[in-house]
Amino acid sequence: MTRPLRFIQIGVGGFGHWWRHAFLPNLREKGLAEAAAAVDINADLLPEAGASLGLPPERLYTSAKQAFDETEADFAVIVVPPAFHEEMVELAIGHGCHILSEKPIADSMAACSRIYHRVKASGLKMAVTMSHRFDADKQSLQREIESGRYGRLNYLVHRFTCNCRKFGSWGRFRHEIPDPLLVEGTVHHFDIHRAIAGSNAKTVYASTWNPPWGEYAGDSTGLVIIEMENGVRCLYEGAKANATTLNGWGGDYLRAECEDATLELDNRWLRVLRSGAAPRPLVTDLALREQPLWMNAWLAEMFCRWVNGETAGHPTCLEDNIQCAALLFAAVESAHTGAVVDVQEYLRRHIASAG
Ligand SMILES: NC(=O)c1ccc[n+]([C@@H]2O[C@H](COP(=O)([O-])OP(=O)(O)OC[C@H]3O[C@@H](n4cnc5c(N)ncnc54)[C@H](O)[C@@H]3O)[C@@H](O)[C@H]2O)c1
Repeated sequence: MTRPLRFIQIGVGGFGHWWRHAFLPNLREKGLAEAAAAVDINADLLPEAGASLGLPPERLYTSAKQAFDETEADFAVIVVPPAFHEEMVELAIGHGCHILSEKPIADSMAACSRIYHRVKASGLKMAVTMSHRFDADKQSLQREIESGRYGRLNYLVHRFTCNCRKFGSWGRFRHEIPDPLLVEGTVHHFDIHRAIAGSNAKTVYASTWNPPWGEYAGDSTGLVIIEMENGVRCLYEGAKANATTLNGWGGDYLRAECEDATLELDNRWLRVLRSGAAPRPLVTDLALREQPLWMNAWLAEMFCRWVNGETAGHPTCLEDNIQCAALLFAAVESAHTGAVVDVQEYLRRHIASAG
């Protein structure tokens, strides 16, 4: 049996708390990985982080550079806001560490493209934790569509609407950055659309704005239309400043219009609707799939097995995830210009100019 991999966790507050308490313990229990150091610019968070990760005080840092310089590690877990991802990826590569990073890859397509080239040139492995595609409800819907029982997928409708209009209610930094809905929210949904449609995006059109009552510097609300390369269309509604949370995190509304049936997922209730003799459709409830691990715990375990050479790849590896980044930042460009953006041309242009 191989020794446990050693990781440095960068960012222990915010979602980093969930990493320490809900996602990483599985790796330790299975002997797959253990903490080697933890970093956060907020020193007040470090003692509790050290206790939860089983680290002594000398392995707790306020400087990521110092942590990498003084620690032997196999991979980095990056859980800081997107504007700092590139800096952390550079440090990890400079110290020969693989990378398991929170989404999105970075906060601009230029930074994502530079990371793409740097990681590929290094020969190191990088995966991005697109948690929500790997939740039981979305996996169940995806597998039902892939079964072919309902014929070909025609189009998808997706609703994600929340009441997080007050400053700080969606985490402070999201109220201060440009395009928070798309960059911090919709990137997950684009990943889900690609997976369910079984295709990368061909074009995207996005209209985004912030209503007067939304305490955001950037756009908190948006309507998006995507045409996939295989012809499937997606219609997406995202809102973080609504009066009501209808379909928040883990409770998305997704309707998949297939050739022979409609599949509807609403707050984790999955059902199939078919035409019957009566005016109302025939409705069959479907149970969600069950397995021991979902979301980041599952993704992190798959990452360790990939790094160990037990598996050939990872479903959210950089090569796959660069398509999410392209769709995300092409949507941002569309929102800013009002134009329909050719996603693959946008990706090629940015990868070429960063090379
Ligand atoms: N996959 C998901 O469902 C999910 C959910 C929440 C957040 N996230 C992602 O996690 C990342 C962090 O988001 P968050 O909500 O935890 O943010 P946050 O601001 O709540 O917490 C970030 C933590 O990182 C620390 N930090 C910030 N800059 C740092 C630096 N340069 N060096 C070291 N530490 C630093 C902060 O002190 C804080 O403790 C983002 O990429 C976000 O998109 C993903």
